[in-house]
Amino acid sequence: MIEKVREIVKNECKDEDWKFHILPVVKYSKMLAKKLNANEELAELGAMLHDIGRIKFGPENHEITGIPEAKKILKKFGVSQKVIDEVKHCIETHRGSKNKKPRTITAKIVANADAMAHFDNVPMLVQIGLKKYDNSIEKAVKWVYEKIERDWNKKLTIPEAKEMMMGKYKAIKLLLEPMMKEI
Ligand SMILES: [Fe+2]
Ligand SMILES: [Fe+2]
Repeated sequence: MIEKVREIVKNECKDEDWKFHILPVVKYSKMLAKKLNANEELAELGAMLHDIGRIKFGPENHEITGIPEAKKILKKFGVSQKVIDEVKHCIETHRGSKNKKPRTITAKIVANADAMAHFDNVPMLVQIGLKKYDNSIEKAVKWVYEKIERDWNKKLTIPEAKEMMMGKYKAIKLLLEPMMKEI
């Protein structure tokens, strides 16, 4: 079943979004699930589907638009209501900029892994920032810097996740701070 969900998401997704965001979120979710003795399959499923709303309909409110979409996919495979509820909770709580907090270990893992994926793909974040701010490098860099700070301070709630990202967090700050001083 996981393989089939993987295929569905991969087909819906832009290649670079799949390679540089969804797959890293899946990788880190499985890693954290293993470390914390949580259910790895459930973490993988939550990770795979956490951005399905963004993939299909765009970023706005994708923590809400993704829910019916994920349900539709999971129901095709006769997944239990319990699993559907878990995945729904992963989707609705994965955004650091929104206020709904994850209550389950799986949702915590996915929200942490979502942030961890950003630390691996800073050049792509810059590209997203440039698009968002009409090619203003100042605004894009500021946006990336603040996003990484928000991830570090708000989304990385699992100590093991923070520990894994410490080196990258410091490196990113070191890299962006000279520009930030001028902004
Ligand atoms: Fe998202
Ligand atoms: Fe995401």
